[in-house]
This record gives sequence, structure tokens and C-alpha cells, in this order.
Amino acid sequence: MTQKQLTVSYTEFPDPAGLPAADRELLATATRALPASYAPYSNFRVAAAARLEDGTVVTGGNIENAAYPMCICAEPNAMAAAASLRPGMPVVAMAITVQAPGRVLDTPASPCGSCRQILSEHESRFGHSLRLILRGEGGPVYVFERATTLLPFGFSGELL
Ligand code: THU
Repeated sequence: MTQKQLTVSYTEFPDPAGLPAADRELLATATRALPASYAPYSNFRVAAAARLEDGTVVTGGNIENAAYPMCICAEPNAMAAAASLRPGMPVVAMAITVQAPGRVLDTPASPCGSCRQILSEHESRFGHSLRLILRGEGGPVYVFERATTLLPFGFSGELL
């Protein structure tokens, strides 16, 4: 028997002011994209801004539906926008933020398991890291160098 351990490394910034400029701008773009969210059922707005390898930035918000399982998260919406605009070009960074009316969320928004699967496969498909910049409506910012860090032991196409 072998006991093993995984370590997750990320950088915490107390606020966006200390971020590298490119991350700060991407996060500001995500925040500006919050009105793209359609979340009348959860009242939980999520927005993602994706930067492609050539510097193009696209955004996406979560789009809900009265048939709840049909809700689409902000992250795949932004990834789909990127794939439509620049087919075959990797997304190299994504900022994600949230807004819930009536309360200030100080915990960084973290992509759900399904979104992690999409982001992780994007990295393996393009052989390029996808940097994640996560923030709530206020509070600290977490930066992960690569999305796959958030999905250890994720399902991989190599198994098929
Ligand atoms: N949501 C996202 O947009 N991204 C995630 O990673 C997690 C959840 C959305 C789905 C739903 O519209 C709302 O947040 C509440 O779950």
C-alpha cells in the first residue's frame, strides 16, 4: 500500500489591484459582462471572460431555463463563443465572477465539475495551459496557472 498526496497550488491576491495587468483587465471584462447573464431562477449571475492566444477576448454569461437541467453555465458559453469566433485557437486565460442581488459574495467563483471537465479537455486538446482568475463580487482573487489543477483524476479521452 502506498499513501499518496496531491498538492494544489494557486496564488491568492487580496484584491484585483495587485493582479498582473492582463488578469486585472480580463476580470474587469468579466464583471462588465454580468448583464449577459439570464438567471431569473437562481438569481445567481455568473460571467466569464476568455482571452484567446491572439489576444481576442470573448465573454459569456449563464443562461437559465424553466426546465432547470437545461441551464448553461457562463464558462461553456464563453468557450463556445471563442470556438465560434476563432476555430482552432486556444483560450489561454479565463476570468470568472458572480453577482447575487441582495448579498455580496466574497468567496471566489469556482467553476462546477462539468465546467472543469470542459476547461481541462481544452488544455489537453491544445497542449496549452488555461489560466483561471476567480473572484466573487468582492473579496480575494484566486489565480490558477492551469484549469486541470481543479480537476485531478478527471475523465480523459485517452481512456476511450
Ligand atoms: N453556474 C455557472 O454559470 N457556472 C458554474 O461553474 C456553476 C454554476 C450557473 C448555473 C446556474 O445558472 C447558476 O450558476 C446557479 O447554479
